Amino acid sequence: MPDPMTPQPAAPEPQSVSSSVTRSAIFLVATINDDPQSRATVRAWCADVAALVRSVGKRVPAGNLSCVCGFGSKAWDLLFGEPRPAGLHPFREFGSGERVAVATPGDLLLHIRADQMDLCFELATQLMNRLEGAVTTVDEVHGFRNFDMRAMIGFVDGTENPSGSEAAHFTVIGDDDPAFAGGSYVLVQKYLHDMKGWNALPVEMQERIIGRTKLSDIELDETVKPTWSHSSLTTLETPDGDEIKIVRDNMPFGRPGSGEFGTYFIGYARSPQPIEQMLENMFVGQPPGNYDRLLDFSRAVTGGLFFVPSQPLFEALADRDPSAAAAEAAAAVSAASASAASPSTANAAPSGDGSLNVGSLKGAPRYE
Ligand code: HEM
Repeated sequence: MPDPMTPQPAAPEPQSVSSSVTRSAIFLVATINDDPQSRATVRAWCADVAALVRSVGKRVPAGNLSCVCGFGSKAWDLLFGEPRPAGLHPFREFGSGERVAVATPGDLLLHIRADQMDLCFELATQLMNRLEGAVTTVDEVHGFRNFDMRAMIGFVDGTENPSGSEAAHFTVIGDDDPAFAGGSYVLVQKYLHDMKGWNALPVEMQERIIGRTKLSDIELDETVKPTWSHSSLTTLETPDGDEIKIVRDNMPFGRPGSGEFGTYFIGYARSPQPIEQMLENMFVGQPPGNYDRLLDFSRAVTGGLFFVPSQPLFEALADRDPSAAAAEAAAAVSAASASAASPSTANAAPSGDGSLNVGSLKGAPRYE
């Protein structure tokens, strides 16, 4: 039993996952070019990011500049090897036919936030300069904060987000995966809306689809809120009735001249499982068929899942060499097999069983 008077080691500092609400954001997804030099460039870059954020952010101290970096499953293995975050796997698709949460390529995610787009833009430029020749950008979205925190569809977005220590509880890994404590998972999707169709709906119908009133942003009473409302399908509970939350920071984006109106969805959690359960509820339905009617007017065109290492791990990853780690593991295995009398318990194989390792969500239902 640990002595309560003995100070416990502090958990590693997370990246700025639960940063304050900002006016602007850039979401940038890139693939890493498939050669050892490109991978070495990305690894070295991990040690430079914090200094670049400081240099750009210092120029407007009140600008709230921050940057979160995440890595996709395949990229993690190629860049860093073992050990790997327990819940990291490729984006899982949900739905079928017209309604699919699609998976699209992506090894690296940058989520850059600030109160001024010039800060986001300058930081993105500096970060991408250092990655030149090593990565290929596959998606870049510049988002803006809309009036009253309203999503593109006109409803206030983010109201039920946890904040402060509650946000940390739901987003930051702890004892559930000690080697990756202080980390998080982040899932992103780019949605395009049929705004003509959406705006043609009576406001009362839109309110039933979201599960809240449009002007005043009040949750509809349970007696009138449909089970297929966005709010009902994205509210998860443990068997004990405790809510399981995620932290979202969606941003509207678009090009009115081209008829493009979108929402960039971004959700952080300490395991991919709750976010994936929400996606399944929305796209497949709960029960199946009872799907989110917001999807009749919104199409997901990208989808990616990334692991966000803690700040100290992110910087230390610069010195991780997976080929050295693989050589070490191979040496350990051959040493063990040479000694037939003492069977090896080492397991150098990657954890490819797709396990979600959701030990953190104590008492949470298994959604499989
Ligand atoms: C088309 C894209 C989306 C739009 C425009 C959208 C918009 C909204 C709005 C307006 C609300 C109500 C206010 C609030 O509490 O934030 C909301 C709530 C919520 N959304 Fe979304 N959302 C989108 C996609 C998603 C996705 C993909 C997920 C999860 C995978 C999600 C998870 C949630 C959650 C957890 C809530 C809070 C529910 C509650 O506690 O009542 N949303 N969303």
